[in-house]
Amino acid sequence: MPAVTNRPINRKVVLVAHVTRMVGPEHFRIEEEPAREPGEGEVVVKTDTLSIDAFIRTSLNDEEGLHQQVPVGAAIVALGVGRVVESNAPGWDVGDAVSGPLCAQTYATLPTAMLQKIDPARPLSTYLGALGLTTGLTAYMGIRFVGEVKAGETVLVSGAAGAVGCMAAQIAKVLGARVIGLAGGSEKSAFLTGTLGLDGAIDYKGEDVDKRLKALAPDGIDVFFDNVGGELLDIALDNIRERGRVVICGAISQYNDQKHVRGPSLYLRLAERHARMEGFTVMHFAQHYGEAFAQLGQWLAEGRLTMPEQLEHGIDAFPGALRKLFEGGNIGKMLVKP
Ligand SMILES: NC(=O)c1ccc[n+]([C@@H]2O[C@H](COP(=O)([O-])OP(=O)(O)OC[C@H]3O[C@@H](n4cnc5c(N)ncnc54)[C@H](OP(=O)(O)O)[C@@H]3O)[C@@H](O)[C@H]2O)c1
Repeated sequence: MPAVTNRPINRKVVLVAHVTRMVGPEHFRIEEEPAREPGEGEVVVKTDTLSIDAFIRTSLNDEEGLHQQVPVGAAIVALGVGRVVESNAPGWDVGDAVSGPLCAQTYATLPTAMLQKIDPARPLSTYLGALGLTTGLTAYMGIRFVGEVKAGETVLVSGAAGAVGCMAAQIAKVLGARVIGLAGGSEKSAFLTGTLGLDGAIDYKGEDVDKRLKALAPDGIDVFFDNVGGELLDIALDNIRERGRVVICGAISQYNDQKHVRGPSLYLRLAERHARMEGFTVMHFAQHYGEAFAQLGQWLAEGRLTMPEQLEHGIDAFPGALRKLFEGGNIGKMLVKP
């Protein structure tokens, strides 16, 4: 018989087998155990909300990929927000709101060095979406410092109805650019031109992207903010203007088969048009976190940015929510509330 404990029970999503293609229920199982007692300098956090990010998929391969790999038997990596329910760290009190790498579980025992205190006056999920490292901050760094978007320029964003894309498109609009979004399906196109107020939208699943892009931007595009890669990257390269910039934020179309990543075949357009292509991760711009955070917070308060949230409920919903990112099943930020 298991020992009786009065500790809170942690339910966590554990990796059962590495993933070679699409994630499915067969790759995960739920385990229960008492939440570990906090050591010196540690706290126990009760998870409020988890961020469903594309990078989670790239951490589930059987070999080194873009990110550190999750070992079989370990909890799935995930960023989250929550409240301290037990503290063994001076200055960290029960009730404090925090964000950090909580993993896909209902309670996390972590050193405070891995956590950040957040303002409980805002909905905590804001720190995963509009003000989140992997969402708002990523979009800000890519648009400002890699794409160097200027007023009057034409910007194309792929994955524009998703979390990063939706923020990148809106930030480019706030900076005075003309913005066209690429997304799958007519509902998402309507979201881009309606809710987000973009200047144009292309349904890459139902329309001839090159033809539509040439109609919407006959003089070409100055900046392509790419979340998707593959064929769409080639079409954008073909339409890039003199001195244009291609921002490689991600390539979600390639994450399910990273041994056979499709690279761009039209990269010589960069030479022809004195254009450049530059990749980045948000972590390369750590020196700008403070600025990005303050600026995004101000634009949010002014109502110039919006971040729709798609909430899935229960820790058991985590694997299905992750899969939805790869099937286009989300608009805005995908979150799980365990
Ligand atoms: N560089 C960085 O530091 C950094 C940080 C965070 C995220 N990222 C990158 O940002 C991108 C977006 O991530 P996110 O977490 O915000 O996810 P997201 O955009 O909220 O969700 C992913 C979206 O990608 C689209 N998609 C999925 N498979 C596709 C395919 N085969 N072809 C075309 N579109 C596809 C789907 O929309 P449709 O319905 O439109 O297909 C889906 O809704 C990812 O590439 C991610 O790796 C980079």
